[in-house]
Amino acid sequence: MEDFEILFVDDDTTILSLVEEYLTAFDYRISIVDNGLKALELIKDKDFDVVFTDFKMPDINGLELLAVIKEYRPSTEVIIVTGHGTMESAIQAMKYGSYDYIQKPFKLDVLKILIEKIYEEKKLKQGNIILKTRLKERHRFDQLVGISLKMQEIYEQIDRMSCNSPNVLIQGESGTGKELTAHVVHKSSDRGQKAFMPVNCKSFGKGIAENQIYDHTLNLFKSMAGGTIFFDEIAEIAPDMQAEISQAYTENNLNLTAGDHKQGNSVRLLAATNRNLEEAVGRELVNQDFLKCINDVIIRMPPLRERKEDICLLINHFLNKFNTNRENTVMNVSPDTLDVLLRYNWPGNVIQLENVIERAFALKVDLTIEVDDLPSEIKTFGEISKIS
Ligand SMILES: Nc1ncnc2c1ncn2[C@@H]1O[C@H](COP(=O)(O)OP(=O)(O)OP(=O)(O)O)[C@@H](O)[C@H]1O
Ligand SMILES: [Mg+2]
Repeated sequence: MEDFEILFVDDDTTILSLVEEYLTAFDYRISIVDNGLKALELIKDKDFDVVFTDFKMPDINGLELLAVIKEYRPSTEVIIVTGHGTMESAIQAMKYGSYDYIQKPFKLDVLKILIEKIYEEKKLKQGNIILKTRLKERHRFDQLVGISLKMQEIYEQIDRMSCNSPNVLIQGESGTGKELTAHVVHKSSDRGQKAFMPVNCKSFGKGIAENQIYDHTLNLFKSMAGGTIFFDEIAEIAPDMQAEISQAYTENNLNLTAGDHKQGNSVRLLAATNRNLEEAVGRELVNQDFLKCINDVIIRMPPLRERKEDICLLINHFLNKFNTNRENTVMNVSPDTLDVLLRYNWPGNVIQLENVIERAFALKVDLTIEVDDLPSEIKTFGEISKIS
């Protein structure tokens, strides 16, 4: 097992020494660290074959570490070591791609059994790129990044509707990725190669006489036969105009022959709103008829604070995005910065996180984004929650 590298992460140093002593006696190559941040540092530089990580740790927990490992090093197997009361989270971790979990207290020979199993499997898999791709896919869907259960559910929703192209309403707070999701919904559908037209609802119908809106919309639908129209921020269109859109949509469908429908010549509608849907309907900002024609499927984008396990992946995603625009230096974030970013509650959601990384890129010339490079409201938030 010369090239086989093992990492064990646990804040209990007694366990670390025992494990190190046991595995070294069998000539295994084992590294040990007593927290998640140190583990991240090691993982950046070294391709471990297997990482055992404690679930409950002060800085970064096992699940968060798992998320980063699966993004940076998809072929590294991760085994979650759980203490009393964290079993459920360990089972959840299995869904996120951990190889297995073991419960404390454990017998040391369990480690050896698992390591040998992974070693054998690895030998079999060598050169098998398909598996690598499959592992990666669980952590993103096209350009949508996220390992959380909530994002997995959205990926499944998008997958399920890829061959029948229903109309879709996407709801979510500002910055949660509604527009990006609309693009992904379109691209992954059987109409993905056909036209996609985003409509800015703030200016929809401007310059057109009121009595012409219906005809204008009908013509738009005809010209987009087989394609997809995305009404972004639909509540910005007056409800009676929304009603006209839905009437034109119905009329356009009635004019199509059965053959047209079969060949997918109808137009597909997507819409997004950052309003609370029930409230918007209650206040009549969204017209009932329009709602009926758009809500075959409703996708609810979760706020970032409800899926913090996606933060590490997103940071990494944005670092890669902005790094490609740089010539020589490659930016990263310091362990302390990562810690602060993980604690923050992100009222502005993903776009706020993207802006923080982009801003740091604009301001910095050297390698690492430090806590001091973050906007003050984020720094302060970190400090307050550290004290409490
Ligand atoms: N899950 C995600 N993975 C990767 N990037 C994301 C994700 N969600 C959002 N983004 C990025 O965040 C930014 C904001 O996303 P988007 O414009 O789709 O959000 P939105 O919900 O439409 O926001 P708004 O309500 O402000 O219009 C974009 O740059 C997008 O690429
Ligand atoms: Mg938007």
